[in-house]
Amino acid sequence: MAAPKIAPSMLSSDFSNLASEAERMLNCGADWLHMDIMDGHFVPNLTIGAPVIESLRKHTKAYLDCHLMVTNPLDYVEPLGKAGASGFTFHVEASKENWQELVQRIKSKGMRPGVSLKPRTPIEEVYPLVDCENPVELVLVMTVEPGFGGQKFMPEMMDKVRILRKKYPSLDIEVDGGLGPSTIDMAASAGANCIVAGSSVFGSPEPAQAISLMRKSVEEAQQKAANVDNRHP
Ligand code: DX5
Ligand code: ZN
Repeated sequence: MAAPKIAPSMLSSDFSNLASEAERMLNCGADWLHMDIMDGHFVPNLTIGAPVIESLRKHTKAYLDCHLMVTNPLDYVEPLGKAGASGFTFHVEASKENWQELVQRIKSKGMRPGVSLKPRTPIEEVYPLVDCENPVELVLVMTVEPGFGGQKFMPEMMDKVRILRKKYPSLDIEVDGGLGPSTIDMAASAGANCIVAGSSVFGSPEPAQAISLMRKSVEEAQQKAANVDNRHP
């Protein structure tokens, strides 16, 4: 069973105080810190890159879960590896030709490769990246159009999560966009174990409570799924 990971999206943090915001989230029980890297081209928004990851790395040992919303992910492997990124999740839409080289380079820089897909991309497109000799270790199902925080969760994306979980029982399956107390149960029962949440965590008066509620939802859903499996061996 893939362990629950709650990953606050630092896109919703106060970027002028990134180190203390990161520490605050870890103290609130975050497992990972989700770092949204956007190039203003793959998505209509521009955020941070390797220099900011490098600065943050000096202040924390936390797992930095980098989500690359960029047109040329290969160009970012070397700088992000040097900067101290932990996970490197690229978009399948931006890596049609070179995903094998990309995955190999990400691993050679000591990072964990993941692949993400936009809402309109069919789930079948990620299968080759998991069913191969040198697979990605995480699939990130976008539950909003990538680019901005604070958008509405798309429940219809849960079919993708369900299909993935059935096919890959121990894969890290991450969801990103519109996750919070009112949507977490849908994602958890579909089989997601890595939960990205920006505005619901940073906008909460009690971020620790928001994080623990999401973790509990994933744990309970996993327990339920395990009980069902036991009944039908
Ligand atoms: C959107 C980003 C998300 C975003 C999520 O493109 O990938 O990580 O920060 O924000 P919320 O949780 O507010 O939808
Ligand atoms: Zn993201």
